[in-house]
Amino acid sequence: MAKLYNLARMTTATAGTGAITLGSAVSGYLTFAAAGVSNGETVTYGIKDGSGSEIGEGVYTASGTTLTRSVIKSTNSDSAISLSGSAEVFITPSHRHFFDQGTAVLFQQTSAPTGWTKQTTHNDKALRVVSGTAGSGGSSAFSTVFGKTATDATTLTTSTIPSHMHLGMLPQDWQAGSPVNASHPLIGTGTSTPGTQTGAAGSGSSHSHGMDVRVQYVDVIIATKD
Ligand SMILES: [Fe+2]
Repeated sequence: MAKLYNLARMTTATAGTGAITLGSAVSGYLTFAAAGVSNGETVTYGIKDGSGSEIGEGVYTASGTTLTRSVIKSTNSDSAISLSGSAEVFITPSHRHFFDQGTAVLFQQTSAPTGWTKQTTHNDKALRVVSGTAGSGGSSAFSTVFGKTATDATTLTTSTIPSHMHLGMLPQDWQAGSPVNASHPLIGTGTSTPGTQTGAAGSGSSHSHGMDVRVQYVDVIIATKD
């Protein structure tokens, strides 16, 4: 962006539509150099010449004290006005230095700058880059997702444990309340008794896994131009 300097206003004896040779400071103002313009810098200039005017961006050259002209807007259908030889040239902001009203911008500070209004529609959210329409979405707050230090608790069920079998033994000929084979070593003789079984193990409790996603962050605000 072309640079701005304060109170720079000079005369020019240049005629025509070409580059300007700067003269002296208008009474009550400063030369470009005194205002702080350095050799080779591009500034936004304004020209007032009778009933004509022009605004543009030009490169200042200290040697010869000249200023090129690239017109942004003018009273000559946005082309360079033809100078009479007695114009004034000054440094001024153009529309390129300002945001349109309602422009939304991020600021890394708590309060919106002067001339801007802080927006509070969105809070505790992350930023996403898109190539299409700018919208919003999602369901979990930034601080919720990025505050986690473990996965959510999960309880295993039959469908989520590995396939397996248990070794056990029941008399092949056992029937409740009935006599059993006297030769069976686990039952013995006489009335029936249930066979062996494995011991119980496991609790059915849930478990979690460690997962620290407490990413470092910097807060920004969204503010719109008043
Ligand atoms: Fe697990």
